[in-house]
Amino acid sequence: MPTREIRCILTGMGNIGRTLLELLSSRQTLFASRYGLTLRCVGVADSTGVAFSSAGFDVAMLASLKALRGAVSDLPDFIPGLRPADLVARADADLLFEATPTNLRDGQPGLDIVRAALQSGKHAILASKGPLVVAYGELAALATGVAAPRLTFSGAVGGALPTANLGRHLAGAVIEQAELVVNGTTQVILEEMAAGHDFATALAHAQAQGIVEPDPALDVDGWDAAAKLTIFANAVLGRPTLLTDLRVEGIRNVTPAALRAAWNDGGRISLVGEATRRADGDYDLRVAPKTLGPEHPLARLGHGEMGLLVQSDLAGRTTMASLEQGPVGTCQAMIRDLVAIYHDR
Ligand SMILES: NC(=O)c1ccc[n+]([C@@H]2O[C@H](COP(=O)([O-])OP(=O)(O)OC[C@H]3O[C@@H](n4cnc5c(N)ncnc54)[C@H](OP(=O)(O)O)[C@@H]3O)[C@@H](O)[C@H]2O)c1
Repeated sequence: MPTREIRCILTGMGNIGRTLLELLSSRQTLFASRYGLTLRCVGVADSTGVAFSSAGFDVAMLASLKALRGAVSDLPDFIPGLRPADLVARADADLLFEATPTNLRDGQPGLDIVRAALQSGKHAILASKGPLVVAYGELAALATGVAAPRLTFSGAVGGALPTANLGRHLAGAVIEQAELVVNGTTQVILEEMAAGHDFATALAHAQAQGIVEPDPALDVDGWDAAAKLTIFANAVLGRPTLLTDLRVEGIRNVTPAALRAAWNDGGRISLVGEATRRADGDYDLRVAPKTLGPEHPLARLGHGEMGLLVQSDLAGRTTMASLEQGPVGTCQAMIRDLVAIYHDR
């Protein structure tokens, strides 16, 4: 079957970027047969700089390079001095996969990279949250219009959970309440504390599993969950929202006694990102630890599982949960975006 060739650029080649490269290599045949797509990776960037190959890189080679702690600057096609955003702006390519570190202060380096993609007519598929949290409105405007490139970010909000795609799922309905349990790290820490460990020990155990952000405050003080709720509010609730619009409380003050009491009652305490529709039509947005009683569907989430519950006027109560191992669920969500851009359209 003839396939359509998509020339893509990947910025960020860590857990997500490297796993995505492995998928682009191992699923080549499936992408061609199921969706009629051939992916050619023509540009890459990591913290050492950028490389470009018009003929396309061997993606399996790139994945091995990064798995062996190699760098883009080791590649023969390395371009010294060129910024990732400049590569994205100038390269002959159709699509950007963006997976650089999330920076909630100014969105960089992802923000300049995504801007460059959209301004040069390339679709952008993001795993990183920073650009969306800092500049959702600006980026969405660049992606508005029939001929405009698409801005997609399924993987940025809860891995494989279709959180950011809920708008389409609930077409025509008004969301009355949404509860998001989308920070796996705090779920694990709170479970450990309910089992008898103190906060510091539970945090150390989670760090030993490699699931805590380099700056643990992002997880335990609620900022990762807040970033995801901010994106959800913009993309799904249609409410222009900044991080500063949310009330944010992390899990540091949750006591083992409270956790055990909830647990013994058949429920649990989770860090929940919550949007509640007010009578005036606007939403109260907050992230805080919440006691979920035994009857609450999100109280039944398993170890490390993420979930969301949405109550809407037309579709009633929608509950979803996802148990994922490592970064592959997020990469699947990025493939979902790819298929939505090129195949579903
Ligand atoms: N990990 C997950 O499960 C997950 C899930 C959902 C969303 N995300 C989001 O996805 C993004 C990537 O996560 P990750 O876990 O893959 O992070 P990571 O392992 O830290 O990888 C980050 C990558 O970005 C590169 N990088 C750093 N600074 C750069 C710069 N200035 N210009 C270009 N590249 C730069 C790094 O280069 P080096 O390789 O040279 O260090 C590395 O390849 C983050 O925004 C994260 O919030 C992650």
